Amino acid sequence: MPLLPTGLLKPSSKVAVLTGAGVSAESGIPTFRSNGGFWHQHRFEDLATPQGFARDPKFVWTWYEERRRAIAIARPNAGHYALAEMEKRVASFTLITQNVDGLHDLAGSRNVIKLHGDIWNVRCLKCGQEKVDRSELADLPPHCACGGMLRPGVVWFGEQLPPGSIERAEAAVRAADLLIVAGTSAQVYPAAGVIPMARAAVEINPEETEFSTEVAYSLRGTSAEILPQLLP
Ligand code: APR
Repeated sequence: MPLLPTGLLKPSSKVAVLTGAGVSAESGIPTFRSNGGFWHQHRFEDLATPQGFARDPKFVWTWYEERRRAIAIARPNAGHYALAEMEKRVASFTLITQNVDGLHDLAGSRNVIKLHGDIWNVRCLKCGQEKVDRSELADLPPHCACGGMLRPGVVWFGEQLPPGSIERAEAAVRAADLLIVAGTSAQVYPAAGVIPMARAAVEINPEETEFSTEVAYSLRGTSAEILPQLLP
């Protein structure tokens, strides 16, 4: 029994996808709000706000460096690979991710909009330079060649998304025949705000979300199980 009505996802489809931490759960990366998620163990105010960073940059960097090390040994899973394959099989495809782990890139996805930045980027608070740095950061907080302190190249609560990113995401969702929403609790805005903009949406999540009754199809299961089955 196919999961979706035949023809909903076909080679001529224009597809947009919104992903969240759940897509990386099967790669061993914890989510934020599911059981055992980061925000059950820590206060997000301490680790994911500019104020928390200003209060204790070493504490924040210690947590980000732990995450970087965990992500460095993680591998994309069948969900990531299915999305990379889907991009090759449909007429147009845009992957909008809230994830900062870079596993979509590693799986081969190309047209990716990173709404919340990238954990492999660092930015100088003094000269503003942003660069990729995958090295093991020994001295925390790390510093720039200019002497300025570096911060993680991710978007924290209360901060602006990368310039033009949400506008491009909204345009891609509006232009798509189908939006696939995978592995997000859809509680964080403006990312979750693209969901009601879709002509038709499919949600993939082992648990219900506040959009489960609003989307056309809400599929209970994991992204690594379900996404490969959606390939046209
Ligand atoms: N496959 C699909 N979905 C899963 C899986 C899985 N294997 N495992 C868990 N999920 C679902 C959970 O049920 C939950 O609804 O993924 C969702 C993860 O939700 P969150 O932890 O809230 O993560 P996300 O929605 O990405 O958070 C958004 O919040 O903390 C900030 O910046 C951070 O980008 C993040 C944003």
